[in-house]
Amino acid sequence: MSEAKADPKRVLLIISGGIAAYKSLELIRLLRRQGVGVRCVMTKAAEQFVTPLSVSALSEDKVYTDLFSLTDEAEMGHIQLSRSADLLVVAPATADILARMANGNANDIATTVLLATDKPVMAAPAMNVRMWTHAATRANIATLQQRGVEMIGPVEGDMACGEFGFGRMSEPAEIAAAVMARLDTPGTQKAAQTGPLAGRSAIVTSGPTHEPIDPVRYIANRSSGRQGHAIAEALARAGAQVTLVAGPTRLADPVGVETVHVETAQQMLDACLAALPADIAVCAAAVADWRVSGKAEQKLKKDSGALPTLTLAENPDILATLSRQGPTRPRLVVGFAAETEAVLEHAIAKRKRKGCDWILANDVSEGTGTFGGDNNRIHFIDQNGHDDWPESTKAEVAQNLARKIAEHFAKDSS
Ligand code: CTP
Repeated sequence: MSEAKADPKRVLLIISGGIAAYKSLELIRLLRRQGVGVRCVMTKAAEQFVTPLSVSALSEDKVYTDLFSLTDEAEMGHIQLSRSADLLVVAPATADILARMANGNANDIATTVLLATDKPVMAAPAMNVRMWTHAATRANIATLQQRGVEMIGPVEGDMACGEFGFGRMSEPAEIAAAVMARLDTPGTQKAAQTGPLAGRSAIVTSGPTHEPIDPVRYIANRSSGRQGHAIAEALARAGAQVTLVAGPTRLADPVGVETVHVETAQQMLDACLAALPADIAVCAAAVADWRVSGKAEQKLKKDSGALPTLTLAENPDILATLSRQGPTRPRLVVGFAAETEAVLEHAIAKRKRKGCDWILANDVSEGTGTFGGDNNRIHFIDQNGHDDWPESTKAEVAQNLARKIAEHFAKDSS
């Protein structure tokens, strides 16, 4: 039986002239891989960083660079261009293009299209930290946000200019996820009535936890939260009502999901228990195994004479607690196993020890790039054995898992 396919979504990607322009090539690839049509507009400055030829090759479409090109206008006028997409995405969005957008300029094809559009606009700012914090940029961002332009990032990190701070463009995978969520907002609402997980509720944990040492220091880990956030979003898209319990991350709250922000393992457990009952629990958070017992009320000082000694206490195990909840146990409890050696063996034992139904095991040893990275290679383990999933993006892992959960509930109720 063939399923009726919805029209493919279309994005008009506006590439302005910043060093991050090279990342837009990856963004085009990621969006196209998810079935989104991408048509591109480039500013003159962007052409200094990437060539229209590479952009055109990846988007498999003409690239628009000139407001006064008779050929371009004959093929598609700029007004039509501005309305031919479902969503406009400016990435990278330099301080200059943001200023021109805020001001309503129409002095090149990019700003003309942005002024003429009646479609939603998202922007992924990219600039030096001082430009980002300058009062002029702050005012421009505020103006644009008031008008409904959605900002993706920027994030904190090393910059091309050698400085460190906020202003680095979000990674293409994060921009792609935000774009997909925005394109799918009505889909999420519709899925709640008709999706395969409609009527089901889910709790998802995501990100690291921070365990305080004193008022300014904490113990943490390298988890980015990308996998857990992607799972929350995928379950919501399949129609589930999702509560995401998120440790501190730099990610935006996923669309269509109720997000509860926590810091410590204890707070994460409390938020999960408060969200019960639920049909599904997916524990993707990298919960700190230990907290500092008797955290210092005042900042520890170097001149106190002795080196501080931290005494650790074990944190509650959220996955094991949810798996052993008795009558309020979610019908399906899924955990992850982050291992650096004997991955399968340790993960199989972990599933039994924690009492969960499924474990998604991954190798997080140095060099795999899993922790904090874009990709994941999963060994799926249940009571019947294991199945190795091919290496894929965290968004794809999330979709696979959501599909598998939906199949499980479909079987269960048939
Ligand atoms: N987990 C949890 N609460 C904890 C520790 C882990 O809910 N306090 C969950 C994680 O979200 C994950 C699973 O347990 O789903 C396994 O986490 P992992 O870090 O691989 O294992 P640990 O339990 O920490 O065991 P170890 O560090 O000894 O491998």
